[in-house]
Amino acid sequence: METSKRTKVKELLDSTAFGSTVTVKGWVRTFRNNQFIAINDGSTINNIQAVVDFENTDETLLKRLTTGAAISVTGELIESLGKGQKVEIKVKELEILGDSDAEKFPLQPKKHSLEFLREIAHLRFRTNTFNAVFKVRHALAFAIHQFFNERGFVYMHTPIITASDAEGAGEMFRVTTLDFDNPPRTEDGKVDFKQDFFGKSTNLTVSGQLEGELAAMAFGDIYTFGPTFRAENSNTTRHLAEFWMIEPEMAFYDLNDNMQLAEDLLKYVIKHAMTTCADEIEFLKNRLLEEEKQKPQDERSELDLVTKLNFCLENNFERLTYTEAIEILKNSTPNKKKKFKYLIESWGADLQSEHERYLVEKHFKKPVILTDYPKDIKAFYMRQNDDGKTVRAMDILFPGIGEIVGGSQREERLELLEKRMQEMEISAEELYWYLDTRRFGTAPHAGFGLGFERLVLFVTGMTNIRDVIAFPRAPKTAEF
Ligand code: 4AD
Ligand code: MG
Repeated sequence: METSKRTKVKELLDSTAFGSTVTVKGWVRTFRNNQFIAINDGSTINNIQAVVDFENTDETLLKRLTTGAAISVTGELIESLGKGQKVEIKVKELEILGDSDAEKFPLQPKKHSLEFLREIAHLRFRTNTFNAVFKVRHALAFAIHQFFNERGFVYMHTPIITASDAEGAGEMFRVTTLDFDNPPRTEDGKVDFKQDFFGKSTNLTVSGQLEGELAAMAFGDIYTFGPTFRAENSNTTRHLAEFWMIEPEMAFYDLNDNMQLAEDLLKYVIKHAMTTCADEIEFLKNRLLEEEKQKPQDERSELDLVTKLNFCLENNFERLTYTEAIEILKNSTPNKKKKFKYLIESWGADLQSEHERYLVEKHFKKPVILTDYPKDIKAFYMRQNDDGKTVRAMDILFPGIGEIVGGSQREERLELLEKRMQEMEISAEELYWYLDTRRFGTAPHAGFGLGFERLVLFVTGMTNIRDVIAFPRAPKTAEF
């Protein structure tokens, strides 16, 4: 009997090859009545039931069928009489591949809180919730590549270590090999980065955009999909210090083309996940319904997960300018009743997530694209409008999430770009290579960044971003 061959549970659950001999390898979820083993091999959130002939099985072997143990089971695939499953396995051979001490294994066949599971993130993959979340995450990543590939975009790998600060935000992680306790110093006492590994001060990238623009100016349409790092001390349910971002950049696109591409991308990948992960999303929908039962009525979502996702696919995203949004917010009930933490008093205010969520969830009740933000709250590279106050920026706001996409048409006019950099004290010397694209064959172009975990958060209906990335990095959190 071949034992290294196995059939995945997902395949068997759909099989009707009754009478055939099959081998399943996986981990015990539960063992009931000294007879029924629920085996999960990760291929689906559903378990397969294996039935042991306990009267003819060594008792010490049965004792080792504990939650978490890895086993191999060979037997006959039969039609199941039990409810909730179509097939099961009548066990002929049973082998324990790896024991799991029931006293010590932290995952018990009961409901654990997400907070607890976060502490044992190395084991939480073995729960249904995280199986479903990471299947959806995979499906979304795959669909993103498929979407761009179908449209002839080139996937660029932009550097992780960089000497530039794309956003000018200055919240970066330094990369150095200098002796931390005794760094070399220049005559005026500053740390001498000339002696550092790269001969200059370097950081982990906050965005691949600037390098992406260089490539777009040759390939036309490109995208990046990689890790980005932000040292902002934001301890929220929507911020990570290490997150993945998708950044397409397109030559000859204006802001409208850019918005359309972003909307098409979001709809495409959500649809793909709903088609390929129907079981997982159904499971996550029910999980969310359960979770929301704990909340007061007025804090529960109006739509269940599947309805919300469909709603997103079926509606055009509402497009309006920042200026129009400010008017709506100024006159909104929570602003008048001083319910917002940050009251909207005048044009120019940066929007907080409470404002974004008001627009999306209460006012328009659908995804919103805000455009033409004040230049003072946006990055230096955004194309300046003729009004002298606003830039061709766009943010896409999603229900429950707030900002999911940030992008813009880029300033392709060299003089205007240089002037803006000067105003914002960004060194034109250091970014000479970026400015070269404006010197040699400059062209209108645009792009955006989609926060991958925020997308996964939306599609899975999870509420904390730390539950949609395997090993979250956040302030004071870098375990595993
Ligand atoms: O709006 P951001 O900062 O834009 C950029 O980085 C541009 N360079 C993008 C571009 O035009 N190519 O970030 C883009 C998106 C946000 O909309 C959000 O979804 C996500 O990245 N994001 C984060 N996600 C998780 N944790 C954080 N700390 C995030 N910061 C931004
Ligand atoms: Mg942004």
